[in-house]
Amino acid sequence: MIRAMDLKGKVVVVTGAGSGIGRIAARDLAKAGAHVLAIARSEARLQPLVDEVKAQGGSVQPLACDMSVLSAVREAAATISAAHAQIHALVNNAGLWADQQRVTPEGHDETLAVNALAPHLLAKLLLPQLRAAKGRIVNVASEEHLNGDIHWDDLSLKGRYSPRRAYRQSKLILTMLSIAMSEREPDVQVNALHPGIVGTKLFRNFPRFIQFWINLLMRKPQDGANVLTWHVHSPEMGGVTGKFYSRYKERRPHGLALVKESRERLWGMVEKLTNAS
Ligand SMILES: NC(=O)c1ccc[n+]([C@@H]2O[C@H](COP(=O)([O-])OP(=O)(O)OC[C@H]3O[C@@H](n4cnc5c(N)ncnc54)[C@H](OP(=O)(O)O)[C@@H]3O)[C@@H](O)[C@H]2O)c1
Repeated sequence: MIRAMDLKGKVVVVTGAGSGIGRIAARDLAKAGAHVLAIARSEARLQPLVDEVKAQGGSVQPLACDMSVLSAVREAAATISAAHAQIHALVNNAGLWADQQRVTPEGHDETLAVNALAPHLLAKLLLPQLRAAKGRIVNVASEEHLNGDIHWDDLSLKGRYSPRRAYRQSKLILTMLSIAMSEREPDVQVNALHPGIVGTKLFRNFPRFIQFWINLLMRKPQDGANVLTWHVHSPEMGGVTGKFYSRYKERRPHGLALVKESRERLWGMVEKLTNAS
């Protein structure tokens, strides 16, 4: 657990902060002294977090942003960078396991947009502030990426969609981009992680009996949140970059993530899709 005041004076951005492990991580980071910029679809979804943090005497700013819409991500990044010269950590936690394919107004598969394109774009747009603080980017990926593949000619999976395929691919993309960004950014630490299998609403579209067992047997949300906060603050992670972690331990990522040529090809494609450079 983090000690009180560990993060005094630090600015931390957390996406998906309205529910699940992101909400608990945001609360705990604020409790540890950080000024937390909490992002969720709407300010209403963040109100319980804001009330709880304020009651603890902590500092939190709610920001509404639908992460499936890249123009909204740009707006959120502009708001943050106008107000802060330094950002000590960006926790790219928002994510979804969809029930069916949805195409965003900008023409991307929703899972691809939320789980991979938006975290990449947000990180790129906040790089000046992250560099200034020698900060950390904590990309919440998943061990599911190990079973994924990149559909090079169809990242939005228009011809061969399944929720599982989309989720796995999106987390593989996020892991590959983490390594690619770490190679470009010597002053920022960039890592991807798996928080454990945690009983949250991520599995809301699974059959009911599977949800029942997940909630009963899997890790509790606080446990998953502890992994996120550890990656933000732990001295052990000082200087570590370009790695995939399963909770607190480094783990070998998918083979594709280890091939520079594949990472660079993907980087180029995602840069085009996000118009990030
Ligand atoms: N739980 C696990 O076992 C597990 C395992 C591996 C990886 N992960 C990853 O951990 C992260 C957190 O997941 P969780 O388990 O805490 O599940 P969760 O409770 O479903 O949390 C996901 C968060 O992402 C937000 N989100 C989804 N789509 C969004 C959008 N378009 N715009 C803004 N926010 C959006 C959700 O907001 P709403 O509340 O508004 O939907 C929610 O706050 C995810 O990236 C997930 O893939 C979880």
